[in-house]
Parts: sequence; C-alpha cells; structure tokens
Amino acid sequence: MCGIVGYIGRKNTKEILLEGLKELEYRGYDSAGIAVLQNDTFESYKAVGKLVNLEEKTKDFITQDFAVGIGHTRWATHGKPTELNAHPHMGESSYVVHNGIIENYATLKKELMAEGIHFLSQTDTEVIVHLFEKNLRSAKNTLEAFSQTISQLHGAYAILLVTKGEDETIFFAKHGSPMLVGIDAQNDKYFASSDTPLIGHCSDVNYFDDGDYGYISADEIVIFDKMGQKKNPHFTKLTQNKLSAQKNGFRFFMEKEIYEQSDVIIDTLLGRLSDKEIVFDELDASLFEGINEIKLCACGTSYHSALTATYLFERYAKIKTSVEVASEFRYRSPIMSRDTLFVVISQSGETADTLETLKMAKAAGLKTLVICNVDNSSMVRLADACILTRAGVEKGVASTKAFATQVMVFWMLSMYVAKLKNSLDALEIAKQIALMRQVPGSVKVSDAMHERIKRLSKRYLHGHGFFFIGRDIFYPLALEGALKLKEISYLHAEGYPSGEMKHGPIALADPELFTIALLPQHLLYDKAKSNVEELSARDATICTISALEFDKADDFIPINSYEDYMLEFFEMMVALQLLSLEISVRLGNDVDMPRNLAKSVTVE
Ligand code: G6P
Repeated sequence: MCGIVGYIGRKNTKEILLEGLKELEYRGYDSAGIAVLQNDTFESYKAVGKLVNLEEKTKDFITQDFAVGIGHTRWATHGKPTELNAHPHMGESSYVVHNGIIENYATLKKELMAEGIHFLSQTDTEVIVHLFEKNLRSAKNTLEAFSQTISQLHGAYAILLVTKGEDETIFFAKHGSPMLVGIDAQNDKYFASSDTPLIGHCSDVNYFDDGDYGYISADEIVIFDKMGQKKNPHFTKLTQNKLSAQKNGFRFFMEKEIYEQSDVIIDTLLGRLSDKEIVFDELDASLFEGINEIKLCACGTSYHSALTATYLFERYAKIKTSVEVASEFRYRSPIMSRDTLFVVISQSGETADTLETLKMAKAAGLKTLVICNVDNSSMVRLADACILTRAGVEKGVASTKAFATQVMVFWMLSMYVAKLKNSLDALEIAKQIALMRQVPGSVKVSDAMHERIKRLSKRYLHGHGFFFIGRDIFYPLALEGALKLKEISYLHAEGYPSGEMKHGPIALADPELFTIALLPQHLLYDKAKSNVEELSARDATICTISALEFDKADDFIPINSYEDYMLEFFEMMVALQLLSLEISVRLGNDVDMPRNLAKSVTVE
C-alpha cells in the first residue's frame, strides 16, 4: 500500500528519500516518485514499477546541502499505475504526496476544472495541490491556505506538501492514515508513514494524531490539533534495532519468514507460560469482567486466525464467540452490546477497515482488545488493551509468521479466559500449556518436508482449480492455505469445509481438480476421511496432509505424529505455506511482492 517519506536537512536528500521508500517497498506498490525543493527550485522524478526504475531515472540527480524533499510509493486506487498518476502531484509551484482516499475529490475536481484548472492525472490526490494553490491566492499566508485546504477534504489522508516561497518547510496533515516525524542528532527532520524508514536515522519520533496538521521547517515544529489549537509535539524513543531484515541466504523473505516461525513462536510464548496458567502481564483481568461474548473483526489472513479463535474460545473458554470480516461489519449497522469484548486482529495495526470497526466499537462503549504485531500502530494506540504477537517484521506480502503467532496468541488467550471463567480444570489447562511448549518444535521446517514439497509442486501448476478442505479448526487453516496459493501463484483456489463439498463443489470433481485435504489424526479423522473418499470416488486429484497415509490419495505430505490436533495444525500450516511458495517459484512469480497486493491496506 502507499508509503510516504519526507526529509528536511543537509544530508543527501535524494538518497534519504530513496532509502526510506525502499524500507516501505514490502508494503506493495506499483509506481514511485520524489520531489526535492532546493533554493526555491523543484526537481521531481517518477517511475512506474519497482524502485530500481526510479533509482535509474535519478542517477544523475545530485542533492547536496540544505534541501526539502518528499517521496511516495503508490498502490493504485484512483487511476491506473502510470507515471502521470504517480505521486508527487504538482501544481504551479507546489508538490504533494498523499496516502488514503479523498472521498469528495470528484466534486472538488469539478469545481476546480470549472475555474479553468487543468488536471494531469486521474487521481484523487491531485485535487489537494490545486485546491491549496487556489486557497493560497486569497489566504493571508501559506499555513492559512493549507489549513483551509485540509478543512475542505473528506476521507482519510496523510499528506505532505512543499511549495515554493517556503523552501525550508514541509506542510503536513494526518487524518485516518498513519504518519510520524522524527529528528536526528543534527536536528534534521524525517517524515514517514511508518517508523521503519526512520530507524537508524532518528532516536525520537512524534506520531501524529488524527486531525493533526501544521508545518515543520529547519528550526520549527508547529502542530495544530483537529480543533485548530496549537499543541506540543510528543516525542518518544524509537527502537534502534534495524528492522530491515535481510534474507539471510534464503531466496525470498517469505521463505525466511516460514523458517523463522519456530523462533518467533518462542518469542510469542516468552514470559507468558507458567506451568499452571497463561500470564498476560499486559492485560488487566478486569477486561473480562461483565463480558459474556467475544466479537472478533479482521481482514485477510488475520480474519482466518480470528476464525480459529472462534473454535478455541467456545471449546475451551466456553464463551460465545463470533467473527466477522471488517469491511462487512462496518456498514451493516451491527448490534453492539456492552457485555461483548470487541477484539481486532491485525498484523500491521493499520488496515483501514479493521481500524474503523475498532473506532465503531469504542464509540459504542465496548471494551476493546487488539492482537497486533506492530507496537505503536494506530490500532495499538486506540484499543483499551493490546497483546503483541512478537512475530518481528514480516516483509513478504503473503503473511506466514504473523498468522502463526496470531493463532498461538488465541490459543493462549482461550486458556487465559478458561482460567478466569473456571471453564477448564487445572489439569486440562496444564496439559494445554505443555502442548504449547511443543509448538516451536512442530513448526521447524525439516529438510525432508521441504524437499518433498519442492518435488511435488511440479504436479500442481495447471488444472482448473484447487480446493483446500478441512474440518473444525482445520477449516480456517484450509482457507488460509487457499489464500496463500491465490496470493502468490495466481491460481484459483478455494478453502472449504470438508463436509460441505458434497453440497455443490463436488460437481467440479475430475482429475484436473486438485484437492489438498487436511486430515488430522486427532480431530474428526474418520469424518474428514470419508469426505475425501467421496472426492476420490469422483476422480479428483487428491493430496493429503496427515500423519497417517491414506491409500485413496494421489499424493501425500506426511507430518509427524503428535498427541494433539493443535500440534498437527501448526505443522500442516508450514506444509501449506511451503506448497504455495514452491508452486509460485516454479511459475516464476514475484513471491515477496505479488501483483496487485499490498502488505498493509490503509484504504477502505
Ligand atoms: C492485506 C495483506 C494481507 C493481510 C490483510 C490484513 O490484504 O495483503 O496479507 O492479511 O491485509 O492485514 P492486517 O495487517 O490487518 O493483518
């Protein structure tokens, strides 16, 4: 999804902007650009495709001494990914970059065009710069023109604007899309839409709140809140741990992240398991007081982990639990009662739809909890309580280790609530905790499994579609397996409850229909096996993932034998991730940055 960087200072502005954009690259984008203002003169470059194209275009552009610069990676929403639609967008004497969506852009554009203003792009963003320049003609000063402009915009935005005549200054506004500013030892200023580009440069950062706007120059930081009141910046320390993980010899970030799962789950468990109970120091037990129901909301992979939670919470914590896709929840006038704990799950903590449901729940007076991987993200700052998943930075757009840690947290949380509500006896809780300690072992990738899947993958590059099937908690895992394959192979795949296949999809069964069947030994094995037999009888090509070999399957990915289905769940998860990865590699796709996808979707 779109990314923003900005810089005010004496260092190599071009390099700082390009490096910053590189840090945001993993979020997904289709074009990029920068604009630099120096001695009241602009230089701007844009390129479609990967950042190397922008680097190539700017190779002869040298920036020395004091300059002000803004940069952007764009993920197309309004208008195709072309150079004209790439940011920064220019007016007569200003440039703007923007994340989010200006919902009233069509009306504004019509008005501006009626006044003779010519638009170069199809974007919503371009209205900002023209509106600003129009306001500037009648305003007392630049700040007034900028604040007037902001007040005319509806929707979500993070905006940086630079203009001639103010060649030491960046104007900014934040509403609904993340943005922060940092300072370094030389008092140079860095803007970005997430903290990764600032790590290594800035020790202190200020996260803007919704409604904040103002300007920052070489020696001034001026921030107004949504009521127009001047406010002081609130700087906090930024971790100096360079998060820009390298591939460490792996071919892709996704592959590295699959292999990291054992270590990150150890981190997720750290300090949270005692022999008898789950310890969440970050939670106040009163969070669950008066709570009779849990509602989960999320998108994409996080939605699948939330779906696993519905099985775990009802089975173990005996608490009524439901889950919804955030984009659906938003607009269906849901009933929200105060005895419901509202839980959002998000790897990034920035997904616009999920964030909005959190705001709705807060507005309705519900207690809220976020399960998130990014500290200081918008959701973490907004929710009443937070559990961090501790997966570390995930760069592959297709989520792997974030999902693993989310499910782990839900399993732990189900035990935490089970203890609070006395719904499981102490022995059972202790048994579950002992199982949890085995998860890091069950997600360790074995050479044998990876080699087998690599070889097997060549048989699954065609066909007319995949069904991933499972029952109970293996149904959300099947959904996640299908999503992984779709995301990086571009092959059609569906996740389905095994028992539902006979109610329609079985009509598709033929040798070119590939079924990936999850057959856990310790959960509804015989029932799931019968469902696979029904497909096998109709000649579907079947690959089972199981600890037990099954003679009706064409292919078989063996997993270890465990004493409990949750351990089978985690090893099967790894097998599914590797299967998608190897199919995608054989198809020659960009595994880490699949087409059309963004890591963090900050628009609705
Ligand atoms: C995007 C990503 C998905 C992710 C979803 C939700 O669509 O491509 O991988 O699952 O957003 O993201 P979140 O950060 O809220 O978990």
